[in-house]
Amino acid sequence: MRHGVIIGTGSYTPPHVMTNDDLAGMVDTSDEWISSRTGIKERRISAGESTSDLAYEASLRALKVSGLSPEELDLIICATITPDYFMPSVACTVQDRLGAGNAAAFDLSAACTGFIYAMVTAEQFISTGMYNNVLVIGAETISRILDWDDRSTCVLFGDGAGAMILSAAEGPGHILGSVLTSDGGKQDYLTCPAVSLVNPYTGDSNAKCDPHIKMQGQEVFKYAIRAITDCIDRVLNKAGLSLQDIKYILPHQANKRIIEQAAKFSNSPFEKFYLNLEDYGNTSAASIGIALDEMIREGLLIRGDKIILVGFGGGLTSGAVLLEY
Ligand code: COA
Repeated sequence: MRHGVIIGTGSYTPPHVMTNDDLAGMVDTSDEWISSRTGIKERRISAGESTSDLAYEASLRALKVSGLSPEELDLIICATITPDYFMPSVACTVQDRLGAGNAAAFDLSAACTGFIYAMVTAEQFISTGMYNNVLVIGAETISRILDWDDRSTCVLFGDGAGAMILSAAEGPGHILGSVLTSDGGKQDYLTCPAVSLVNPYTGDSNAKCDPHIKMQGQEVFKYAIRAITDCIDRVLNKAGLSLQDIKYILPHQANKRIIEQAAKFSNSPFEKFYLNLEDYGNTSAASIGIALDEMIREGLLIRGDKIILVGFGGGLTSGAVLLEY
């Protein structure tokens, strides 16, 4: 059966580092509070680069590793909740800048679970035989939708992009199982409004729009632990494997305490979980792509290793991919 095999990954984060001490100069917080409650020490914040700029740089790196030319790409999917524009999509902008003239391109919105949703979507296009080479991107400039006066959210996030190229092949490196979930009933836990509905029929009654992230932190915290635990369990069942078969679990990089609790509830050693949130914070749809690229470049994964990628976020959404690298 045809599968998508990872033939290249890449990532890019803006050069500007914002430390916890920098934040303590902006809102009533401290390095001690942020570190102990989240595990985050610093994050990268765009000083002018757009989401498509970050996405393009990450994609260029993934493309270089893959050895493909841009013209060989059939499809570009970009997971993002912070596109440059409502239209064109970030994926179309990246397609143009790469010179990937033969690729279809679209964005996908699944918040911090976006990279997982995009990988699973790419795999469907490949396994049905429609496309051979798919570029999957997770890219965000979350700093644009943060309320920089709200200490309960602005300390958590960062900007960045991760990319991956999946190519049709037989053999190791493909998805052995996947799970996607949504729970729109809990959408109020994590929101960010778009532009208001104002037209000749509404007047300006709905004109007030605060385009910033609002979050019920403790509800999201509890949801995230359950989501990671359930998704790991379900994806292992689907693939007919057990935790002993898995070398690493790569969770969405939101909060170290969430991951510690999820490790406990899934009876998995914490050391199995890969973390880099200390350096980047929560980069939303980009976090799993950035971390996977880092793991591969550090030589932590060799062909044949099995890894679970697991995400959760706004929607609410969650999902996991069990991958043989
Ligand atoms: N610095 C200092 N104090 C802060 C603070 C900050 N950055 N943010 C909140 N506080 C304060 C609160 O105002 C509150 O003060 P009070 O007791 O005087 O009212 C106190 O710290 C405790 O707040 P609380 O919200 O109960 O803290 P918490 O232990 O739940 O931690 C989060 C807050 C946001 C770190 C935690 O809820 C969390 O990580 N939730 C999940 C968020 C997430 O990952 N979202 C993205 C998912 S994709």
